Amino acid sequence: MQRTPIIAGNWKMHKTTEEAREFAHAVRSLTPKENMDTVICAPFTSLDALVQELEGYPIAVGAQNMHWEESGAYTGEISPGMLTSLGVQYVIIGHSERREYFAETDETVNRKAKAAFAHGLTPIVCVGENVEQREGGKTKEWVREQVLRAVEGLSSEQAKQLVIAYEPIWAIGTGKSSSAEDAQDVIAFIRSTVEDGFDAQVAAQVRIQYGGSVKPDNIGTYMEQPDIDGALVGGASLTPESFLKLLEGAR
Ligand code: G3H
Repeated sequence: MQRTPIIAGNWKMHKTTEEAREFAHAVRSLTPKENMDTVICAPFTSLDALVQELEGYPIAVGAQNMHWEESGAYTGEISPGMLTSLGVQYVIIGHSERREYFAETDETVNRKAKAAFAHGLTPIVCVGENVEQREGGKTKEWVREQVLRAVEGLSSEQAKQLVIAYEPIWAIGTGKSSSAEDAQDVIAFIRSTVEDGFDAQVAAQVRIQYGGSVKPDNIGTYMEQPDIDGALVGGASLTPESFLKLLEGAR
């Protein structure tokens, strides 16, 4: 099964709208590459500007979170329809920072994944273990539970469109990336978990990224692995130079 690789930058809480526009201008030189999806997941305040600036260029725009309801008394929240009305195509769901600081749970991740599909957004669902779980040999047990809870109630057609980002928490922003072999091992396990939840066809099509201290000089080692379909990149997606180098390194 040929899966289209997907490289997504996650800017987290960085960049004003003006800075986002400047970034977009600088990455417009990117040569379109068939068979590679490229996404920038920006703060809500920059989404509209990015969609406009990148129209006609091979870079899609994603959000970093959303609510699962379409509207309502949820002060400070953003709905799926608000994102699609801007032209946003992707949304990160369940990033470990949202799980840790903003009470995201497997249940809300599942609700958001369903809502994303209902609105035609592609969810990038994040899973990953912390250092204690890693050292205690609990990585696979933990990640399996996160994946199965996230996909509960999705149809096979939806699950095939899903992007899962495996991000070991200890590797995020630390410079201590997982070895490509270890990441491959967990990601192959995630693929087999998807097979248990659905079937072999879905498992063969779902795209699974690695995230955690991915840089231009190590992205190639992940992309060589048979089950790794791309990367979710924080720090190294923040400057146009680094982002373009990442994309080069991924090819
Ligand atoms: O969403 C991105 C990840 O949290 C990875 O961040 O590349 O800065 O380690 P990082």
